[in-house]
Amino acid sequence: MEAGIKIRRATESRIAEVDFNNIPFGRVFSDHIFMADYDGQQWINMEICPLHKIALHPATMAWHYGQAIFEGMKASIDDEGNPLLFRPEDHAKRFNVSARRMCMPEFPVDVFVEALSKLILIDKAWIPPQEESALYIRPVMMATDEFVGVRSSDHFKMMVMCLPSGPYYSKPVSLLVEEKYVRACDGGVGEAKAAGNYGASLYPAKLAKQKGYDQVMWMDGREFKYVQEVGTMNIFFVIDGVVVTPNLSGTILKGITRDSLITLLREKGHTVEERPLSIEEIHLAYLDGKLQEVFGAGTAAVIANVDRIGYKGEDMILNPENFKLSPMLKSEINGIRKGRIEDKHHWIHPVYSEVLADIV
Ligand code: COI
Repeated sequence: MEAGIKIRRATESRIAEVDFNNIPFGRVFSDHIFMADYDGQQWINMEICPLHKIALHPATMAWHYGQAIFEGMKASIDDEGNPLLFRPEDHAKRFNVSARRMCMPEFPVDVFVEALSKLILIDKAWIPPQEESALYIRPVMMATDEFVGVRSSDHFKMMVMCLPSGPYYSKPVSLLVEEKYVRACDGGVGEAKAAGNYGASLYPAKLAKQKGYDQVMWMDGREFKYVQEVGTMNIFFVIDGVVVTPNLSGTILKGITRDSLITLLREKGHTVEERPLSIEEIHLAYLDGKLQEVFGAGTAAVIANVDRIGYKGEDMILNPENFKLSPMLKSEINGIRKGRIEDKHHWIHPVYSEVLADIV
């Protein structure tokens, strides 16, 4: 059944102002946004409308107590000009995992996919066709009760905005092993895409930048021994021909790109180990000349090669030009996303057929 999403189109598009060959990540927004409100019982006021600013009371609870979550996903365009969403149901389900952990209402998966499909179709012209570019989709949910007291909000706002984007990282990244600050502990909210996880990472990230590194590599919060993830991505290591990535222990994000890469690697016959991985093991592999590749994986970043890891005052240096798996994976995943490589795992959700009649 249709969810009853109202559609109000922008009278004029801003698209002519955008240089699609040079789009800074995170700053350029498409013409429309999806919005919905939770009234304590159900989701209401579902609408796709022109992107606009919203007015909120200073006591809006999300600002005070961080009851806010988000997702990051992508749409591409195939060679025939059809929009393709990448694993939207998986993102919807992960959004709901985050919502449950943060005491927020779930958003029905089918309505999430329907809303996104309609939004993408309306803003189809904003999907950049360039290689390595895509329409980044940012669903966000926030607590909107106007109340200064610590409890869960009864009312929430859900919004989905779209941003045409080029590559998140235009060059290999350097990482600093974090030995003082912690991103997540057992029993915490590390697995949720909670806004506060990112807020808490900013200060250590700033210190890492001051030391000349792009990102922090987080260690476990108990012993500072095992690798968790990187600021904006999950992380993969190729050690002596074996791909190793930290297991999903509840403290790291269940990355959808991470899962896609593991599936592709195993399908191609590579051994992938999901297990606790200590920084000592990585360091020893480096000293033995067995650390062959290090790359991050995430929706925004897709695959970002790592060329330097700072650990205990020294740098492990890698040469991404020698990486074999990371470029193969990048071209595979980009090919699937653009509909050029067979989608054996049903990750692609084409949106042209099911919603066109309804909205054009
Ligand atoms: C993503 O990859 O979608 C993320 O959410 C990471 C970052 C841009 C916050």
